[in-house]
Amino acid sequence: MTDPALPAVDPPTPSPARQPQHVLVAVAWPYASGPRHLGHAAGAYVPPDIFARYHRMAGDKVLMVSGSDMHGTPITVAADKRGIPARELAEENHRGIAASFEGLGLSYDLYTTTLTPTHYRVTQEFFTRLLERGYLFEATEEAMYDPEAERFLPDRYVEGTCPHCGYGDARGDQCDNCGRTLDPIDLIDPRSKLSGATPTARETTHFFLDLPKLQPALEGWVTSASGHWRPAVAGFVRGWLNEGLRARAITRDLDWGVPIPLPDPRYESKRIYVWFDAVIGYLSASVEWAERRGEPEAWKAWWELDEAGNPPGRAYYFIGKDNVPFHAIIWPAMLMGYGGLALPYDVPANEFLTIDGQKLSSSRTYTARLPFLPEALELFDADALRFFLTINAPESRDTDFSWDEFQRRNNDELVGTYGNAVHRLLSFLQSRFGGVVPEPGELGDSDRAMLARIDETFAEAAALIEAVRLRDGLRTVMALAGALNRYLDEAAPWKSIKTEPARAATSLWTALQVVSALRVLTAPFLPFSAATLHGSLGDEGDVHALPWAPRALPAGRALPKPAPLFRKLDDDELAGLLERLNPVGVESEEPT
Ligand code: MF3
Ligand code: ZN
Repeated sequence: MTDPALPAVDPPTPSPARQPQHVLVAVAWPYASGPRHLGHAAGAYVPPDIFARYHRMAGDKVLMVSGSDMHGTPITVAADKRGIPARELAEENHRGIAASFEGLGLSYDLYTTTLTPTHYRVTQEFFTRLLERGYLFEATEEAMYDPEAERFLPDRYVEGTCPHCGYGDARGDQCDNCGRTLDPIDLIDPRSKLSGATPTARETTHFFLDLPKLQPALEGWVTSASGHWRPAVAGFVRGWLNEGLRARAITRDLDWGVPIPLPDPRYESKRIYVWFDAVIGYLSASVEWAERRGEPEAWKAWWELDEAGNPPGRAYYFIGKDNVPFHAIIWPAMLMGYGGLALPYDVPANEFLTIDGQKLSSSRTYTARLPFLPEALELFDADALRFFLTINAPESRDTDFSWDEFQRRNNDELVGTYGNAVHRLLSFLQSRFGGVVPEPGELGDSDRAMLARIDETFAEAAALIEAVRLRDGLRTVMALAGALNRYLDEAAPWKSIKTEPARAATSLWTALQVVSALRVLTAPFLPFSAATLHGSLGDEGDVHALPWAPRALPAGRALPKPAPLFRKLDDDELAGLLERLNPVGVESEEPT
């Protein structure tokens, strides 16, 4: 159950009295420029939910925050295109994103936006403090200026050829082909997105984050802190540090963003750069969460260093790989400059989920587009999506999304292995035992082996999830469902009931204990079906309030009629759904 490309996990220790920890689950803030697609969900949004749900069940104090990233040129460019104000576009998209996150079952403690008064205040305080402590300076640089529109052209207002890889449609802030962060002035053959004109260089004054000054401290931190990071993340960060950090402008000539907190009229037409305010969102959302609870200091339990400079717990930042520089270098640098706040413990960035034109087992071909979350959630159950995105997660390499694979794993594993084992057991219990959990007789070797496997699975899955090896964690849980199927095939209580009813009762009781464990073990990954199964096992309340531990299903309990957990997708049904999603030959543009 391990992926050789990821760091090794310590062998599971059978859960000793575990000290509760403060765990900050910081989730990338999606741009409110349009709906997010399945690739974003696989990369940055589903993993932290699994991680947070597990840690809550393990007894830790979890704070999971994020929100929509409302500023910057991704939003203004999209708003210009629609001819509506940036705020209106961002708020509309924020509502859509929040609704699909709810549909996916993401359990944020707070999902907010970067337009709140708290966020503006915290961002401006952060800016002021870095300025006072000497980590920001003003400098004049050359920036792209559109002579026709008579405006500066920050970030995505310029497109051109990437100076690193030669890709022709690089954006001013980033090349989508090679992934490098760019400055518009570096583009070859630049063109203005506003007018199509060729921009010219013109001088402008901005604030810069003094990364060279912070480089030695950053290097020390990366050396001591990155041992458990994913190799790709640690390697990327070391590469950047070896090249030597350059100061980065953190203001822009733009009217959409957090205002610069200085009375100087020269700064009225400038705003704080979207990336600078967005990463501060982790902190401001934590503050907002505390304010909303009426305990305005409560955020400190996840953030404030003690007198010895030790963090109060662990902070995990869940992102896609294109966001590594901002989370593993720039945000840590900002935090060091600010002082007194916890640095990231881990930045488990995922690789990309990709998709090509595909054939399903039936002959129709589907075009190369990952579905957006609203359409995916209309067509499929959230757990089916979460299952596939996790069992096939791009944790160590880019991973190709395939509808064939989606169908196969849904039908063979989710429905065939897990759903089926549960269903045949619970139905058998209804038909032959009146729905009442039988009293077990004496346990045989295979029963004891089956029960021992429950404890092993809890320990092993816990170790994997804590190491953010979620794909392997889910595989471990599914392996228990597979073992249950084999146990049932061998014990065959539906046969032994005719000749040895006591043996059948023992097998059934044993198997039910496994099902009872599986509703706990699957709860972080598959929250909806775990809740359904929890009800089918005659339990009330929230399955996610259970501790991460085996839960006995007592003999004598009467269970209700079982509800189905998953749906099988046959060829014709899936083909019909996909045709609604993606008519052949039609490709829609992806907002980013
Ligand atoms: N909005 C950015 C994106 O979608 C991610 C920002 S993460 C943040 O790529 F923390 F900086 F907000
Ligand atoms: Zn490039």
